[in-house]
Amino acid sequence: MANPTKIPFLDLVAPHQDLETELLAVVKKAFATAGFIGGPMVEEFEREFAAFCNAEYCVAVNSGTDALRFAFMAAGVEPGDVIITVPHTFIATTEAISQAGAQIAFVDIHEQTYTMDPSKLREYIETHCDFDSADGKLIERSSKRRVAGIVPVHLYGQTADMDPIQELAAKYNLFVIEDACQAHGAEYFSKNANAWKRAGSIGKAATFSFYPGKNLGACGEGGAITTNDAAMAAHMKMIRDHGQAKKYYHDIEGYNGRLDSIQAGLLSVKLAYLAKWNESRRMLAHRYHKLFDESKESVVLPQEAQWTKGVYHLYVVRVQDRDALQAHLAEAGIGFGIHYPIPLHLQKAYRGLPYKKGDFPVTERIAAEIISLPMFPQLSPEQQDVVVASVKDFVSTKMTSSR
Ligand SMILES: Cc1ncc(COP(=O)(O)O)c(C=O)c1O
Repeated sequence: MANPTKIPFLDLVAPHQDLETELLAVVKKAFATAGFIGGPMVEEFEREFAAFCNAEYCVAVNSGTDALRFAFMAAGVEPGDVIITVPHTFIATTEAISQAGAQIAFVDIHEQTYTMDPSKLREYIETHCDFDSADGKLIERSSKRRVAGIVPVHLYGQTADMDPIQELAAKYNLFVIEDACQAHGAEYFSKNANAWKRAGSIGKAATFSFYPGKNLGACGEGGAITTNDAAMAAHMKMIRDHGQAKKYYHDIEGYNGRLDSIQAGLLSVKLAYLAKWNESRRMLAHRYHKLFDESKESVVLPQEAQWTKGVYHLYVVRVQDRDALQAHLAEAGIGFGIHYPIPLHLQKAYRGLPYKKGDFPVTERIAAEIISLPMFPQLSPEQQDVVVASVKDFVSTKMTSSR
């Protein structure tokens, strides 16, 4: 029988206990004014989060999934258009593509960074599509559909390599929407701009999730879109609120997709701590790297490319015999996660897509080996030592038994 968990994968209780007084003040304020929908708390959070991301505008919505869907709609996606993303992401990325009426096209990830491989993107565009320079449309040859945009996912808190992706997008007239749902505060060094850029300020728009376990998490559901495009921001504000800019004047059909005021207020409180929390995650990641240094042969560590400053939403390592390691950690009472065990192109939900096993070898290989170790700002060095000792114990026993 497994031990009851001694070291959690994620401790969501500690930060809420630490901030209880400040968080409860938000709830009391909402009760005192009955301002539950829209209003100053939402507007203030939008201003603060836009500033945090170095973006002009932020539109707060009720989930990361809706953030993606609304961004696609406002970027001008037409029914049947193709949107390109990766098969190694949470299904919300592709659900939102389908919900916006578009078709999913996958390109593989990079073996070291686990984010979109720009060379695979180029290969898809150059070998599977035709560009009509007269009307500026990229057409997928097999389906004859227009390719509208690209969604790089800043997975595990590390940005995708955005310069080459943006260059291809500019050349072929495609939009780029960053899926930054796991990357609040991550940075990218753009050689083209010769500057560090924050996730949320690079593409045409970027989407964030405030699901409780995220680096910035609500006490419920929440999401946001950031952009520097005023028209797009205004459009997304309408989409999230039944297609109205003025009450009961509906220019289009929209959704009930607003972030509620209490969540916005709670997020403002937590946003003030986000930089500190992200720094703790980075320090813990570097400590993990050091502690695992001598086991690098058997434990593949996450690699931070020179062009990124990650915020370690997850600390994901790779091992052979991942299933046995799961059993070993469970026995020791150590929490872990698998993000994600089945690549999206092999999920039942997508059996209708024209993909098969073997199509995305990097994604398929790593999906069988990855395991996410405990990572949260309050993780103590003592807890981290126990995690590392347990993983090392596993790999050394395996090595001895395979001799
Ligand atoms: C990469 C990615 N995209 C999109 C989402 C969707 O966010 P939400 O759960 O807030 O809808 C998530 C959330 O887990 C995510 O990790």
